[in-house]
Amino acid sequence: GKVAVMFGGDSAEREVSLNSGNAVLAALLRQNVNAIAFDPAKRPLTDLISEKVDRVLIMLHGRGGEDGSMQGALQLLKIPYTGTPVLGSALAMDKIHTKQVWQSLGLPTAKYEIADKRRFEAGKCSAIMEKLGNEVMVKPAREGSSIGMARVTSAEQLENAIQDAFNYDNQVLLEQYINGPEFTVSVIQGQALPSIRMSTPHTFYDYAAKYQDDTTEYFCPSGLSDEQEAHLAQLSTQAFDSISGSGWGRIDVMQDSDGHFYLLEANTVPGMTEKSLVPKAAKVAGLSFDELVLAILATSFD
Ligand code: DAL
Ligand code: MG
Repeated sequence: GKVAVMFGGDSAEREVSLNSGNAVLAALLRQNVNAIAFDPAKRPLTDLISEKVDRVLIMLHGRGGEDGSMQGALQLLKIPYTGTPVLGSALAMDKIHTKQVWQSLGLPTAKYEIADKRRFEAGKCSAIMEKLGNEVMVKPAREGSSIGMARVTSAEQLENAIQDAFNYDNQVLLEQYINGPEFTVSVIQGQALPSIRMSTPHTFYDYAAKYQDDTTEYFCPSGLSDEQEAHLAQLSTQAFDSISGSGWGRIDVMQDSDGHFYLLEANTVPGMTEKSLVPKAAKVAGLSFDELVLAILATSFD
């Protein structure tokens, strides 16, 4: 069969997707898989039919690729694809709705408020700061790679950060800041890989800390006790299942100074760049990058 690795796209995470996709395509070609690159920002989807593509490995991040719209289009074209179908993709793309599902199931997640562009009142910023513990993360509801995010400690900063985040989405999540450290758990075929702990000198694990400079430290094994590691693995697989995640993905989590975990978000097409997290965890679990890519491709056979 012929595999199209879909990457690029036109979301704010295009650059990240190009890096993920090129790495994944190279891994398939090394393993003699009949694979082609396919950038949906450059070609109409109907080319998948004329190219006689049998399945798609989705390496698009962000809106248009990770949010269920591409998954729906491929479903209508009757072309199997990797990872999470429409519902889970749409849910995971939206940090607010993800949180509401987790909350409804009693899963731990930080306190929050919502800023909606259509009825935002700047005068409420002071009250929001107080309610959320005077240190707040501001996040566009549907973005990735920390794009449009800020960490704020005053009402004035909050207002500015919300206005900035409105450039990315009409819905903005305002979340109580949890001191960290930050952990991430990769999930493949229902199994959690070893957790990774990230340590950054930046005010949070932002775009630059993720991709641009080499100051972030990654710990895998993460240093949790066996009991905590098992708990975090259970929490993460449950969190992924609960938003209809399937195939493969990654759950991001904060831990407070008392050792409690707080779920941040689910990624249904996590990064596969040189600096990305799923390949690091896979390696510690004994899975090479090439083997990981084949495991991801295999999720399209479900
Ligand atoms: N959104 C980026 C690609 C990630 O979660 O790795
Ligand atoms: Mg994300």
